[in-house]
Amino acid sequence: MNILMIGSGGREHALIKKLLESPKCTKLYCAPGNGGISRDAQLVDIDVMDKENMVKFAKENNIDLAFVAPDDPLAAGMVDAFDAAGIRAFGPNANAAVIEASKVFSKNLMKKYNIPTAKYEVFDNPHKAIEYIKAENTTPVVVKADGLALGKGVIIAQTIDEAVDAVKSIMEDKKFGDSGNNIVIEEFLTGPEVSVLAFTDGKCVKPMVSSKDHKRAYDNDEGLNTGGMGTVSPNPYYTDEIAEECMNTIFKPTIEAMNKEGRPFKGCLYFGLMITPDGPKVIEYNARFGDPEAQVVLPRLKTDLVDICEAVIDEKLSDINIEWYDGAAACVVMASGGYPLSYKKGIEIFGLDENGQVDGATVYHAGTKYENGKFYTNGGRVLGVTATAPTLDEALKKAYGAVDKIKFEGAHFRHDIGRIK
Ligand code: AMP
Ligand code: GLY
Repeated sequence: MNILMIGSGGREHALIKKLLESPKCTKLYCAPGNGGISRDAQLVDIDVMDKENMVKFAKENNIDLAFVAPDDPLAAGMVDAFDAAGIRAFGPNANAAVIEASKVFSKNLMKKYNIPTAKYEVFDNPHKAIEYIKAENTTPVVVKADGLALGKGVIIAQTIDEAVDAVKSIMEDKKFGDSGNNIVIEEFLTGPEVSVLAFTDGKCVKPMVSSKDHKRAYDNDEGLNTGGMGTVSPNPYYTDEIAEECMNTIFKPTIEAMNKEGRPFKGCLYFGLMITPDGPKVIEYNARFGDPEAQVVLPRLKTDLVDICEAVIDEKLSDINIEWYDGAAACVVMASGGYPLSYKKGIEIFGLDENGQVDGATVYHAGTKYENGKFYTNGGRVLGVTATAPTLDEALKKAYGAVDKIKFEGAHFRHDIGRIK
């Protein structure tokens, strides 16, 4: 099969490495990809949002399977464009990807179908939002931009003044552009967070092994929120009992709710959960694999990923038995100095071999460039250094051992991945 991956991060590199394990995969392309991915797949210079050229390339190169990994092209209807051209594509249609692209949509969906989530109100007017915040007078309070905002559209305000400033910056200063035309103000929940990615063909839902993301930039959960600085799988807080409760109160009801709304979801649905004292609740949905969750979940997948993608597309997911390796995986993200704020690019990376790997670990490239046999930084999150082992402690030891061998000026990473709540 000729397969086209769409995207350019560590998640896409992890998907590519898993697809390469399939005997069905004969030729793999990635648009646009990155330096590390160029060692595993043929790069194609097409922007992830360019539907017309993406479909044209797929037709001209006899693509048998297109995999749309990032949120923006999914929300913009990249899978719809492939469908219209008769090209098989993995990922939800735009009318289902809205479950991530609009928090107003997903919150209203959960309310309508009694899926547990934080209490909330929606506003399209900043004055009304501010009046509400002052009248409720509880802190912390969570202010969220409706639309996609690179994972940065959520503000946890510790004081009423901070919440008012958040409303103004989102709705009046348009910090996230049109994503902030509407906002959600919601109750602050507490408890450990769990990421559960699930395959679904719109009929049945098969959760993958659980994971835990560390979103803050620095140790002890200090610093700004990032796309994710590291992950472990399994998530120690996700017991079998909680998994069963989630299946009955969250996973199945969400799939059914999307069907009832005439928006069947096919692809990977990501449940961002919080295990609160009142039970598991949904913090957010994503319409795709998480990054860096994919980097610890996929290495544990035993079943052929191509077979799973085909079963999802053909709505035959219930026929396939998905198997996982026991043990654990850990991923430590090495980021550019300054990330998630401004950072330099083009800094040489030392310690990788010619395929961008190091002994004892799999290195997924997130933001790198490959030129004349050398790797250079080319993004905020640069590498996801990942290891698997029988226990989480051993996986972490191996991953950190590999991180120590890699050097680039300004590199920063968290030292407490898998170690704190
Ligand atoms: P989101 O983009 O919706 O996943 O939010 C980013 C992060 O903000 C989450 O991973 C949580 O750590 C935090 N967060 C979001 N909503 C809430 C909430 N209602 N209560 C507490 N923390 C939250
Ligand atoms: N790691 C969180 C996300 O992919 O949204």
